[in-house]
Amino acid sequence: MTEKDFIPTSLNTSTLQEGKYTWKTPSNIALVKYWGKKDNQIPENTSISFTLDACFTLTTLEFEKKKSEKANFEVFFEGKKKDDFKPKIATFFERIEQYCPYLSDYDFIITSRNSFPHSSGIASSASGMSAIALCVMSLERSLTTEINDNYFYKKASFLARLGSGSACRSIKGSIVVWGNHEEIKGSSNLYGVEFSDEIHPNFKNYHDTILLVDEGEKQVSSTVGHKLMYKHPFAQERFKQAEENISKIKEILKNGDLKAFANLVESEALTLHSMMMTSTSYFILMKPNTLKIINKIWQFRQKTNLNLCFTLDAGANVHLLYPENEKEQVNDFVVKQLIQYCQNNHYICDRVGKGATQTSI
Ligand code: DP6
Repeated sequence: MTEKDFIPTSLNTSTLQEGKYTWKTPSNIALVKYWGKKDNQIPENTSISFTLDACFTLTTLEFEKKKSEKANFEVFFEGKKKDDFKPKIATFFERIEQYCPYLSDYDFIITSRNSFPHSSGIASSASGMSAIALCVMSLERSLTTEINDNYFYKKASFLARLGSGSACRSIKGSIVVWGNHEEIKGSSNLYGVEFSDEIHPNFKNYHDTILLVDEGEKQVSSTVGHKLMYKHPFAQERFKQAEENISKIKEILKNGDLKAFANLVESEALTLHSMMMTSTSYFILMKPNTLKIINKIWQFRQKTNLNLCFTLDAGANVHLLYPENEKEQVNDFVVKQLIQYCQNNHYICDRVGKGATQTSI
């Protein structure tokens, strides 16, 4: 599909006066990372992620026919009016306008909350943007008879991408690929697709325990970080490596090789942070406790021969990934040895989930 396929042809906004839609959308954690993009939110390389379950955003989009010429929307987050969230959402609405011309016929109230603390350092843009995108698609579905489920979810992911790249991977479960890769059937730079190849039972119900090392705001946003890849001396090699890692992980997900999985996923996390440390300007998002946790994980793995591994997103928090049948030993290890490195002993137990769901509240 191309961008043009997402421009609706027959829509009728004359009868629908008002309404509301609510979606619950999960966060996701990348195994092969997206870091570097071209214009229009086109990724420099393919990425793949686990969709999460316990970390989600719940968003309601209320709409009514516009009363004045000026487009109007208000944002409420966790019960409070949030004017500082408006510029990002306004940019998102501008980017999707040509694909959703009906937006200019309505006024909106967006009400949102996260299942995780906003200041936890967990990226909320993925779940947040995908939730708004799905609400917008529910509105579109009410205005035309021409939408099937396949189009609905593809376009939702397409719109979410225009809000935040990684958000396009927060629509479906349990594993999602974003970026055109020759070995992944149906993959696209424009939207995320469910990884439909064979998945070994080892990866069913995979756990992600998120250790909240630093709950503050990030010093460098992902958007700034992506831009620093433009003139990065190692960028081209990195993009090539990511494509190769997609081929490798595809094989690993099929054959269930947990040692190879740990190896690849940890290397991806450290490569992401190496890119940050070697860009101009350079920066470090890991904290001393991030490194302490990593070393503890390596010692634990050596001692137990279990398959616990880590990944990082653009921050100091550590995601612990492990299979279902190791959860008792890992939980014991977390409680006894790792929570001392978490801010206020905070951590979140999550696992691979099934994707976004529509609800009513
Ligand atoms: C490190 O999707 O937050 O989490 O497209 O500018 O909104 P924008 O960036 P964003 O970048 C996420 C980067 C990452 C890796 C990943 O999720 O693949």
